[in-house]
Amino acid sequence: MNYEPVLLRNIGKKLYKVADYVKEGGYSGLEKALQMKPEEITEEVKKANLRGRGGAGFPAGVKWSFVPKDIYPKYLVCNADESEPGTFKDRVLIEEDPHLLIEGCAISSYAIGANTCYIYIRGEYTKQADILEDAIADAYKEGIIGSKVMDSNFSLDIVVHRGAGAYICGEETGLLESLEGKRGQPRVKPPFPAVVGAFGKPTVINNVETLCCVPFIVSRGAEWFRSIGIDEKNCGPKLYAISGHVEKPGVYEFPMGITFEKLLEEAGGIWQGRKLKAFIPGGASAPVMTADDIGIPMSFDHLAKAGSMLGSAAVIVIDDNTCMVKVAKTIAHFFNHESCGQCTPCREGTNWLEYIIDKVLSGKATEKDIDLLTGVCNQIEGNCLCALGDAAAMSVRSIAIKFKEEFMKYVKKLTLVRE
Ligand SMILES: Cc1cc2nc3c(=O)[nH]c(=O)nc-3n(C[C@H](O)[C@H](O)[C@H](O)COP(=O)(O)O)c2cc1C
Ligand code: SF4
Repeated sequence: MNYEPVLLRNIGKKLYKVADYVKEGGYSGLEKALQMKPEEITEEVKKANLRGRGGAGFPAGVKWSFVPKDIYPKYLVCNADESEPGTFKDRVLIEEDPHLLIEGCAISSYAIGANTCYIYIRGEYTKQADILEDAIADAYKEGIIGSKVMDSNFSLDIVVHRGAGAYICGEETGLLESLEGKRGQPRVKPPFPAVVGAFGKPTVINNVETLCCVPFIVSRGAEWFRSIGIDEKNCGPKLYAISGHVEKPGVYEFPMGITFEKLLEEAGGIWQGRKLKAFIPGGASAPVMTADDIGIPMSFDHLAKAGSMLGSAAVIVIDDNTCMVKVAKTIAHFFNHESCGQCTPCREGTNWLEYIIDKVLSGKATEKDIDLLTGVCNQIEGNCLCALGDAAAMSVRSIAIKFKEEFMKYVKKLTLVRE
């Protein structure tokens, strides 16, 4: 596909020093932003329709405008926890272009009036955290951050905070609890973090990729950003992390809304000459799609309309040799393991999901158990504090409904049951 990458334009260039990044045009967005009023930047990001790349697709500029003007201090938190199964796009941005993230954090902090930015990074990303810390140290040395950012009156500290390997700490309020040194358990919302966030103060939380889009919006304008993509509400450059049964798994950048079919083609097609059975378009949280959905545009609204979601754009491709009951088991196990245990429907329900699927796999289930499985999903959905419970329910239920005949094969003992 003829597309000039934006977010991945510096891949392989190893621009770890400020001087090298500046040679490639880096920090010009920050320089321009510092000449603008903070509210003008927020307005431009709003006009760009930049929707959050962490999962929910909430418009970033709108979120920024919820921050109360008269309460200080305020914080920016960059969510680099990236623990959704199948998701590995933020890792590439941090590892390959750390100054792009620093620039995005600096502009966004200036726009919301924050003088401290925390980058909460997945504990397993040790190499990426080291690269980021080195780049931040160089940015301090070169006057890009610290007191008087690029000789302006704006000051900014950026702190890297390493997580300890819990998926729930990617949920924004679980993250805040963890950042404050407490057990990572989501908070009741409202109040939303934009009003009561880190240390009780107004806090904007944005994903790595979302923040990396900001320097380009400032330097090239909202109209340019909106001109990329399938429509005005689903626009901008987009990273897709493709894994599973494809010839060339990896992180690909395309305009928002490329079709799944085209993405698959770019990733070399299904491996070993096999056929497509299913795909998960947005990480383990997203309901499964079947081979019939191959032409779907990979955008927030198109996938939502089709009953799934773009989520973190972690595209997991599943070939026709795969047992979908085992896929459901893997997903149920993940959510059962990662549930923080605060809400009964999620804590008990995810355990039941895994238990019932295990029963199916052992050949001891009846058709009633499959109805029970979808029934438990219905009991979890909408009855939990955070989206983890909903994600577990929607994802497992979609497999149990769309691939019921595979579950029935185990019930009817038409499938070889392996221990
Ligand atoms: C269980 C759970 C895990 C999440 N993990 C992440 C994550 O690893 N990274 C991320 O950016 N957002 C994650 N999110 C979404 C965040 O709560 C939040 O919506 C996001 O960081 C906001 O940034 P954005 O608006 O730029 O997308 C997760 C949400 C849930 C419910
Ligand atoms: S839904 Fe699950 S993960 Fe989220 S707060 Fe409740 S128990 Fe914890």
